[in-house]
Amino acid sequence: MLPAVRTVRVPLGNRSYDIKIAPGLIPKLGAECARLKLGQRCAIITDTNVGREYAKPAYNSLLRAGFDPSLVIVPAGETAKSLKNVQSCFDRLASHRLERKSFIIALGGGVVGDLAGFVAATYLRGIPFVQVPTTLLAHVDSSVGGKVGVNLKAGKNLVGAFYQPKLVLCDLDALKTLPPREFRAGLAEIIKYGIIYDADLFARLERDLPKLLRRETKALGEIIARCCEIKADVVGQDETESGLRAILNFGHTIGHGLEAISSYGKYLHGEAISIGQVAAAKLSHELSGLSEKDSTRIADLFKRAGLPTTVKLNAGQRPKLFAAMKLDKKVSDGEIKFVLAKRIGKVVWGQRVPTAEIEKVLATDGHR
Ligand SMILES: NC(=O)c1ccc[n+]([C@@H]2O[C@H](COP(=O)([O-])OP(=O)(O)OC[C@H]3O[C@@H](n4cnc5c(N)ncnc54)[C@H](O)[C@@H]3O)[C@@H](O)[C@H]2O)c1
Ligand SMILES: [Zn+2]
Repeated sequence: MLPAVRTVRVPLGNRSYDIKIAPGLIPKLGAECARLKLGQRCAIITDTNVGREYAKPAYNSLLRAGFDPSLVIVPAGETAKSLKNVQSCFDRLASHRLERKSFIIALGGGVVGDLAGFVAATYLRGIPFVQVPTTLLAHVDSSVGGKVGVNLKAGKNLVGAFYQPKLVLCDLDALKTLPPREFRAGLAEIIKYGIIYDADLFARLERDLPKLLRRETKALGEIIARCCEIKADVVGQDETESGLRAILNFGHTIGHGLEAISSYGKYLHGEAISIGQVAAAKLSHELSGLSEKDSTRIADLFKRAGLPTTVKLNAGQRPKLFAAMKLDKKVSDGEIKFVLAKRIGKVVWGQRVPTAEIEKVLATDGHR
């Protein structure tokens, strides 16, 4: 018997929506969309890698449910999040005559989700869209919460909107084809939820990490559902990041800085924030009362997940990293604001950290 479908509700008044988590959801895409009572015409936006594996079952499922789908395939990779691709998606939607009641399906990882979500937010001033995330990162993070957008030459995610989907379908079967490095990168966001919000989840991850690394459907379904619950809870309280939502940025100040100075090439996002979270844990030990034991537990879990936890910066890279961090987050008087942990499961945000302290934790190699 197939495991049950887990449903997590994102509570946002009349824009509330469900996240469904189960194996076998892509072949049921048409039936799921039919329940939303949207128009007949729709477009699947996907990338070359995901399209190869899942475009056909998704497309056929929509046909079977009586929809008139069009398929738009963009190149795989971060560079697909461009205004150029937004334009070519618009042209395709217009030539397929999508109108106000039509809808878009974002089938792919965070790149496709952010791009297709932005296209949905702006085409005809906004048409509905459904997220069908296919990476672990997208299951637990990017497909939930309504941040959509694209990159400019000047930096990542500089153009975008808050625009919520009508439904999120996390098909656990899709994770089977995900390259191992991408899978591990997703684990970095999962561990983050334990640190920022749920000590029991963190302890469970310490226990069940081998099951996750083997991609056991049952364990994955339970853990992904818990992460989605946490994100839904945070976003439900602070949709547009005026306060609490900032906790989701734990480890991201240093992480984004590392991504920027390596021109988004060397590290996957999950790898950069793994290093960033271990550094933030060390800062938390220095500045916000995180015990040395918990700081060590955090570093150990990232290591066991096969993620990098330290970075060696040469003299030239160091000032570049600080410049990038200062661009990324609000700075006052040479102090960069951080999310810091008080203990595993509890963080505080808006903490001012002197650059000298950051220098210190980045200079230490181990975590002791
Ligand atoms: N909107 C948000 O709240 C939010 C949050 C976090 C990250 N993001 C964004 O998400 C993006 C990163 O997303 P990502 O890590 O999912 O990367 P991605 O979308 O680039 O996917 C990673 C790679 O895996 C391939 N792939 C995806 N699913 C696959 C599958 N099931 N089988 C085989 N290959 C598959 C893709 O083609 C790609 O090559 C970044 O642009 C980041 O800014 C957005
Ligand atoms: Zn992240």
